[in-house]
Amino acid sequence: MALRHLMSPLDFSTGELDKLMDLANDIEKYPQKYAHACAGKKIATLFYEPSTRTRLSFEAAMLNLGGSVLGFHSSDSSSAAKGESVSDTMRIVSCYADIAAMRHPKEGAPLVASMKSMIPVINAGDGGHQHPTQTLTDLLTIRSLKGHFEGLTIGLCGDLKFGRTVHSLINALSRYDNIRFVLISPEELRVPSYVREAMRAQKIPFEEVVKLDEETMKDLDILYMTRVQKERFFNEEDYLRMKDFYILDKEKMDLAPKKMLVLHPLPRVNEISVEVDNDERAAYFKQAQYGVYIRMALILTLLGLEVK
Ligand code: NCD
Repeated sequence: MALRHLMSPLDFSTGELDKLMDLANDIEKYPQKYAHACAGKKIATLFYEPSTRTRLSFEAAMLNLGGSVLGFHSSDSSSAAKGESVSDTMRIVSCYADIAAMRHPKEGAPLVASMKSMIPVINAGDGGHQHPTQTLTDLLTIRSLKGHFEGLTIGLCGDLKFGRTVHSLINALSRYDNIRFVLISPEELRVPSYVREAMRAQKIPFEEVVKLDEETMKDLDILYMTRVQKERFFNEEDYLRMKDFYILDKEKMDLAPKKMLVLHPLPRVNEISVEVDNDERAAYFKQAQYGVYIRMALILTLLGLEVK
């Protein structure tokens, strides 16, 4: 099988994504069937930036498949602290593991690493650029709970400038028919121009608004909330000014459509009040669970393993 990496959600065709999601749904239904599929295989999690869900869900995914895990969870605890390049690190890790997931604060670092790798490399988030496995998680959540992508109106709210999950999700959803985006952000945190231009080039309808109010929410099928990305701000003052710009609380949810699902890649800070957690439309914890199934499906697929 040819060596294959995952750098962007567009690396898979929509047909391949369907297969991946079918596999994830099967894993959800019959976990036992997959319990030994990766016996003897190892995943390396190479995390140069903090993470809870992504790293642990990769590790849980491999453990659920009967494989094992190795890796590091900060650059201080790896040879990066001594000045080693990601390419050299990846070359070495290729000798120790069968597949790797890399998160890095620099845009493009996992891509550079993949060029020297002998094993599949998964981009687990590169700076403010992309986060393809979060997108696979989001797609699986939407497909499992809504049944389809076509015709959906999706509101993305918060830090659309630095939020890599947003960039990847727009990228991926833009391939389905009759998708419409409502981009809700403060003026300073609008989506980067390359994301806007890509939507224009593909003739994807979108609007950009500042307020998260009844008028904005009235046509939404999905409201995807995001945190203001503190670590990517140049100064603390701007962050403090922006951080509580949006707070989705019970009062706001009372104005939202009855079938509007609320998603969030997590971690949440203040942008969704805990009182919303009990609302039937709050799907973000379920979404985190889907993250494990889709990563299990992804590991199997990139390793070319089939379970009968
Ligand atoms: C996201 C990320 O790392 O970009 N987290 C995640 O992987 N679920 C979102 C965020 O940190 O805000």
